[in-house]
Amino acid sequence: MKVTSSTETLGATIEGLDLAKPLSQGEFDLVLRVLGERGVVRFPRQKLTGRQLADFSARFGKLEVNVANAFQEAGVPEVMILSNIVENGKPIGLADAGQDWHTDMSYSSTIALANVLYGIKIPKRGGKPLGATEFANMHAAYDGLPAEMKRDLEGMTVLHDFNKFWEMMRREKGSKRPPLTEAQKKAKPPVSHPVFLTHPITKRKVLYANPGYSIRINELPDEESDRTLEFLFRHQLKPEYRYAFHWQEGDVLMWEDIGTIHNAVADYGPGEHRLVKRCQVMATMFYSERREEQ
Ligand code: SIN
Repeated sequence: MKVTSSTETLGATIEGLDLAKPLSQGEFDLVLRVLGERGVVRFPRQKLTGRQLADFSARFGKLEVNVANAFQEAGVPEVMILSNIVENGKPIGLADAGQDWHTDMSYSSTIALANVLYGIKIPKRGGKPLGATEFANMHAAYDGLPAEMKRDLEGMTVLHDFNKFWEMMRREKGSKRPPLTEAQKKAKPPVSHPVFLTHPITKRKVLYANPGYSIRINELPDEESDRTLEFLFRHQLKPEYRYAFHWQEGDVLMWEDIGTIHNAVADYGPGEHRLVKRCQVMATMFYSERREEQ
């Protein structure tokens, strides 16, 4: 195996691993360490079935079955299909997944440890890949906060709501997603998490808030909460915290969701096809699973 760092901010490539085969303990330990240290890990030249993608992902924790309950791989509901391809008039995947800054599953009682995405079709224009996935480093964002803000917000909690991102996509991005049903909303009520978490792999503090799902800081009056969240959302996207990953077909990209936020760049048209399969891994390795409750 060969590990290469991508940029100073985030990212690494691990070569020489066939993810279709079960990982040895040594391989697993290395992947987890690199994931913690580099946040985003690329495994190039993979060839995986949906089942193999789910089996690899499940080594790292329990897999989430997305509450939207759509575009699941046949027989493997933990694998969600993200795609703009339409076959016989029917979309084969969720076309606009993640197309703004967010952290997967910050809206869940048991938060996500990682996303694992397998790039099957990547659009290109003029030889250059489109549909990058951008990241921002929340270890660096915490470190870069003013000292008084770190002190004042310590111990406070942020409320996260699945419906915020869903509605934002419908309102601002022309998404064809239907509104969430009452049953879907009930299955994912807003939940609170500390605004600063100690990262379970690095043991360093991270800023755990994101524009996609965070709706208020519970301990502050409304106006101050809005102002503080606006500040945090701007701060966490400073260019020096950011890293853009440009896909190649056959890449498996794994990133950890506690110390990063991400954004799927929608710079390709309907005729430029993207097909990616995704698993979301809960942080059950580090936190015991909690029921959804307020
Ligand atoms: C996601 O937010 O999980 C999707 C990211 C992507 O498709 O690049």
